[in-house]
Amino acid sequence: MHVRSICILGGSGFVGRHICSRLASSRLSVRVLTRRRERQRDLLVLPNLQLMEADIHDPQNLRAHFAEVDCVINLVGILNDPSRDGSGFEQVHVELVRKVTETCLDTGVRRLLHMSALGAARDAPSRYLRSKAEGERIALAAHGEALAVTAFRPSVIFGPGDSFFSRFARLLKRAPGFFPLPTPEARFSPVYVDNVAWAFINSLNERATFGRTFELCGPKTYTLRELVEYTARVSGHERRVIGLSDRLSRLQAQVLGRLPGQPYTLDNYLSATVDNTGTGDGLKELGIEPVALEAIVPGYLSDFSARRRYDLFRKGTHRV
Ligand SMILES: NC(=O)c1ccc[n+]([C@@H]2O[C@H](COP(=O)([O-])OP(=O)(O)OC[C@H]3O[C@@H](n4cnc5c(N)ncnc54)[C@H](OP(=O)(O)O)[C@@H]3O)[C@@H](O)[C@H]2O)c1
Repeated sequence: MHVRSICILGGSGFVGRHICSRLASSRLSVRVLTRRRERQRDLLVLPNLQLMEADIHDPQNLRAHFAEVDCVINLVGILNDPSRDGSGFEQVHVELVRKVTETCLDTGVRRLLHMSALGAARDAPSRYLRSKAEGERIALAAHGEALAVTAFRPSVIFGPGDSFFSRFARLLKRAPGFFPLPTPEARFSPVYVDNVAWAFINSLNERATFGRTFELCGPKTYTLRELVEYTARVSGHERRVIGLSDRLSRLQAQVLGRLPGQPYTLDNYLSATVDNTGTGDGLKELGIEPVALEAIVPGYLSDFSARRRYDLFRKGTHRV
């Protein structure tokens, strides 16, 4: 198999953008489907990329786009369910995957790369992880002679534009001297977005990856408390991190989950009650050396730190 053209669902998101920019120097033709083309126009600078607006939940639209490519990458995922009753997770992580696999088989797409998540399991405590497990199962069940499928299960992903370190840096900035942290002992093996992007790209034509799932983890494991304290130091917003008990973590999630935008939900809390850890072996098998976060995160959080020094300087409490 030799992939020449790819349709990417979720290509406008954090991971998708990194994959698209790595593919820019390839000869592949890349088509990204988005709900709002206007918002993603900056992607159009990439020379081999077509950006098209489509309702990807409509199989007719999938059919029209998949008929013109030989590979599909599905990155669509949500951390919070706007419906609050689990039907959003079901629609995005399960039903959409069913439509994608069926349409791949109907239109003769030969290759499917599917994004799952580390910790996805049928008996996982959160709806997010259970729905991700079901989506991964559906994707891999479609693997066969006609369609080669590979699934990826990353731990939390870091890099410029991430929603983990950048979000904590923003929250720390607003915190009043101390920072109440739910599930402080939750464990993660953060993986660099560039490593994830290359895992997808290296797998495209690699037969040894067909029909398999790869865990994508960084070289080290940290508790959430360690990651947040590190973010505070690097972003220049040092706060006393106060780890909340299990009961208070759950309570905080119940309260914040009711706020507009759902900054932290009960389902997020439940996801964090299971370890999100692994080794760098999946990346190494794909020929990729896992990059430690300490080599990357200061590069994009230092903006926060520089601004902080400037603010203190203006207030006369900091010497440059
Ligand atoms: N980031 C992490 O730390 C992490 C960790 C483990 C697993 N993952 C998985 O990796 C994948 C990519 O993550 P990401 O961080 O790149 O996510 P992201 O930045 O939120 O991007 C997700 C993309 O999916 C599309 N999308 C979201 N909701 C949709 C809906 N209801 N219908 C149609 N399209 C929708 C959006 O495209 P448009 O708005 O352009 O339509 C968006 O570009 C997800 O499946 C996620 O579960 C991420």
